[in-house]
Amino acid sequence: MEKTKGITINWMARIYDPLTNLLGLGKNFMKLVSESIKFKENDRILDAGCGTGTLLIEIRKKIGKKCELIGIDPSEKLIKVARNKSKNLNIKFKEGLIENIKFKNNYFDTVLSTLVFHHLPTELKKKGLKEIKRVLKPKGRLLIVDVGKPENLYSRLVAFFLKWYECFDSNLRGELINLLKETGFKDVKIIKNKLRIMGMINFISAKK
Ligand SMILES: C[S@@+](CC[C@H](N)C(=O)[O-])C[C@H]1O[C@@H](n2cnc3c(N)ncnc32)[C@H](O)[C@@H]1O
Repeated sequence: MEKTKGITINWMARIYDPLTNLLGLGKNFMKLVSESIKFKENDRILDAGCGTGTLLIEIRKKIGKKCELIGIDPSEKLIKVARNKSKNLNIKFKEGLIENIKFKNNYFDTVLSTLVFHHLPTELKKKGLKEIKRVLKPKGRLLIVDVGKPENLYSRLVAFFLKWYECFDSNLRGELINLLKETGFKDVKIIKNKLRIMGMINFISAKK
């Protein structure tokens, strides 16, 4: 596996699912994410930074077998968990990097990325967005769910500690929106601002 400057979390493989369920960012949250996008038959869908694969598993439950579902993540142990959880669901989980997506141009109808961009330094966020744009079909859709500007007292307090980390800082300043526009994405908008989820998780949609 190529090296990345992104924060990988191999060490969390065993505790990732119980922890995210506890924090409200697990299975039920992924159901919410999967309901935020309409899918068509035969769509090709990429989850960039898929972790333990929960989002694609929820999407598979929701849509028919005809859609092609692919998840990439550099953490080999998380990919292993994803594969074990999704036997017989026909989802491909591979080791891979958002900054070097090993698919041809214009391949995917939809790219999803949840809670990944705050694991990337700004330089990788830019490269990742460029790569996502490259692999998306014309008018293909992108949904990023990630940390954005804090909106309440609790999240401002949390943000005060997190902003010292480069990966978090640009997210907390709301920079993802600007980076998406700079990369040439259209219709960039926040479609859900889940105040109740830590006060700073945004659902940002965009089109190629
Ligand atoms: C907080 S987890 C989110 C995982 C999953 N998307 C979810 O929402 O449960 C962040 C993920 O980003 C992945 N990541 C870190 N650097 C990456 C990179 N360069 N390319 C793709 N994913 C990366 C980590 O391995 C980890 O799985």
